[in-house]
Amino acid sequence: MERGDLWRYLPLLPVPQRSVVSLGEGATPLRRLRGGGEVVPGAVTYIKDESLSPTATFKARGMTVAVSMARELGHERLAVPSAGNAGVALAAYAAAAGLEALVVAPQDTPAILLREIIARGAKCLLVRGLLEEAGSCVEEASKAGYTNLATLREPYRVEGKKTMGFEVWEQLGRVPDWIVFPTGGGTGVIGLWKAFGELGQLGWSDARMPRICAVQSTGCPPLAEAWQTGAQDVPSISDPRTVAVGLRVSKPAGLRLIMRAIRESRGLVIAVSEEDVPRAASELGIREGIYPCYEGAVAYLGLQALAREGHIERGDRVVLFNTGMGLINPGTEMPTIPTLETPGEILSYLGD
Ligand SMILES: Cc1ncc(COP(=O)(O)O)c(C=O)c1O
Repeated sequence: MERGDLWRYLPLLPVPQRSVVSLGEGATPLRRLRGGGEVVPGAVTYIKDESLSPTATFKARGMTVAVSMARELGHERLAVPSAGNAGVALAAYAAAAGLEALVVAPQDTPAILLREIIARGAKCLLVRGLLEEAGSCVEEASKAGYTNLATLREPYRVEGKKTMGFEVWEQLGRVPDWIVFPTGGGTGVIGLWKAFGELGQLGWSDARMPRICAVQSTGCPPLAEAWQTGAQDVPSISDPRTVAVGLRVSKPAGLRLIMRAIRESRGLVIAVSEEDVPRAASELGIREGIYPCYEGAVAYLGLQALAREGHIERGDRVVLFNTGMGLINPGTEMPTIPTLETPGEILSYLGD
């Protein structure tokens, strides 16, 4: 039987079949946005919903390939610095492969992600500071035999991410005009750019690149700043704060490559207001029945900005990415909900 998951693209991936470590990742739905007409009048908008991934985010795609290659290459101890979601994915795939995993995370990483990393059997350490400090710790850990799977430190996570592009192309039956993607370290954007480049080289698509819009929060916008100024390098964002923790990368190591991908796709980088993110997440839930991660809500705000600023033309096919499940969002407050004392009280709540 033909595989339904992302390993159906095995001939376009660097891993031999014998080393594949899979939890059934990829093959996420691409749905029409019900309220898309209101957000982007005249265009046809879709959402690629990565919340159905086995580790609840698109990070599963990168790690299934990276851990499979690590197994192929005989690496037994794997490590990653992570804001949380890549750590969960490494823990999951290392466990599935029977390999050791180490995750080093900033001290304020949401508890829900730390619990999941431990539950999936990885060793987890916290560090005072940000992702960059966690990265330095993982570099040290290489002296104890750990292979560093940090963003763009090895080539295979991007290979896994490129399957998002293949799926969009297959599901849509064509190359979309725009892809809107929440961006932190940039492997998502680089993977998409690589995917459409390869489809063109293979002669399978019309070799057109979708325009890629990378979206960040004003709480941590290094790429948006570099895009504005045209700089090849930007100072680290000194106090990055965003509820979209996957976008809290204050100085992306792959800045030049990300900028190249955006430029070659004739896309752009947008920063959207941090204050608006939770509201945007609820709006997506209420309108579409999707429970998005805050990173997905950032992308949704980016789509709105793109439409407002007139970048999207009539008839354009636009694909918005929700990169993960809302259950991973930070915050544990109890929502305000009325409590019924007797069954009869319900009618006064429902009555008009
Ligand atoms: C849920 C989620 N969305 C988006 C991103 C950003 O992806 P990238 O680092 O590939 O730019 C991350 C990164 O951690 C993430 O966890």
